[in-house]
Amino acid sequence: MELKKKSYIETYGCQMNFSDSEIVASILEKQNYEPTTDIKAADLILLNTCSIRDNAEQRVRNRLNELHALKRKHPGLVIGLLGCMAERLKDKLLEEERHIDLIVGPDGYRQLPQLLEQVESGQKAINVLLSADETYADINPVRTGGSGITAFISIMRGCENFCAYCVVPYTRGKERSRNPQTIIKEASELFEQGFREVTLLGQNVNSYRWEENEMQVDFPALLEKVAEVNPLIRVRFATSHPKDISDKLLEVIATHENICKSIHLPIQSGSTRVLGMMKRGYTRDWYMDRIEAIKRIIPGCAITTDIIAGFCTETDDDHNETISAMREVEYDYAYMFKYSERPNTIAAKKYPDDVPEEVKSRRLDEIIALQQELSLKSNKLDIGKEFEVLAEGVSKRSDQQLFGRTSQNKVVVFARGNYNPGDYVKVKVVSCTAATLRGETTND
Ligand code: SAH
Ligand code: SF4
Ligand code: F3S
Repeated sequence: MELKKKSYIETYGCQMNFSDSEIVASILEKQNYEPTTDIKAADLILLNTCSIRDNAEQRVRNRLNELHALKRKHPGLVIGLLGCMAERLKDKLLEEERHIDLIVGPDGYRQLPQLLEQVESGQKAINVLLSADETYADINPVRTGGSGITAFISIMRGCENFCAYCVVPYTRGKERSRNPQTIIKEASELFEQGFREVTLLGQNVNSYRWEENEMQVDFPALLEKVAEVNPLIRVRFATSHPKDISDKLLEVIATHENICKSIHLPIQSGSTRVLGMMKRGYTRDWYMDRIEAIKRIIPGCAITTDIIAGFCTETDDDHNETISAMREVEYDYAYMFKYSERPNTIAAKKYPDDVPEEVKSRRLDEIIALQQELSLKSNKLDIGKEFEVLAEGVSKRSDQQLFGRTSQNKVVVFARGNYNPGDYVKVKVVSCTAATLRGETTND
């Protein structure tokens, strides 16, 4: 038997990239590469990269410098760059980072075998073509990273919203949905393998739409079908765009016990003027109407968000509207960023990046401090309540403790007892920090 080569994939950026790395691992496995977690043993190192902010790219550049040293010691080593940074910078990267052998964009992974052959024959290889229909629907991802309990399922790719600040439409290409039958099949197989939670992924997951002959499947219909795979499989999804968070979708979530009561709904800014410049496609009032619908149709649903501080022309008044929006919604959790200008985006071409760095920092600090307060408040409200927790693994601090999540996606730590990862456990919350709940099991 031919000796297997070893591949090592390091993933940066969003959940979509983590999901893509599992697809890449699957394609490589068929080419006689087996995954390793020991980078020094690897024959092939792939970095699956992110371009969303400048610091995301800087991290990869620093990592490449470290890999350069490794390659000097191990000349046969092949180094490749995948993902959004590969797509954004294309062959420029081959000039700037001379020890890279291979560049592959998000829609080119099927070509990896041929590209690797090209590298073996001594050439550099690149494929950064974007596709209108690639969804990797037939590729069975190798579940490399996870716990064996939770898994990602990519259901759509690309984005055509062109928010003014965002690089994703340029790096991920056209929006396209994946055949629903292949999604349901993947969820069923995961359940049979012992997985107990799937997260349906897409940049605008709720804009999902599949049409074939007479059949039309929108996101509420797909979500329902996945939930019906088995009542014991939990279903999550990310990220929802506010424009497509319909009452119909909220009703599907409300009526299925196993669809998690947690919605990630990025607001970006609380100022309608700034939202307009961002080209987000909604006003503050429209967003707040959707929040009100979530609270009305799904009582107890967690709401989380993304916020950008210091977008072009943002004034103190605009910033204060973001602060007031956060207080109005009372987010359970938020991802918070300083605006980072990305080359060739609409904002980079049309607007000055005119909020001084120290003002961006001050506003971001204020947003983070407020969210800390809101997260703590939200967690304190859970004290004394009982939740069904899906145990995901053994706590890092002690093997006598398990951690898991509530339907609201909050992490709970509790004494292990006779429970194992994969079990549903009734837990009463007894204390908390802003980040974690601590509980006691109450099952018989
Ligand atoms: N598709 C999702 C999010 C994609 S990127 C959505 O539309 O909400 C994840 C988050 O990164 C965004 O929600 C935004 O808050 C942030 N982000 C994107 N581009 C950015 C930039 N240029 N500077 C700072 N943050 C950015
Ligand atoms: Fe970027 Fe906007 Fe698309 Fe989200 S919806 S990926 S922020 S362009
Ligand atoms: Fe980054 Fe690309 Fe995801 S830019 S956030 S890895 S889609």
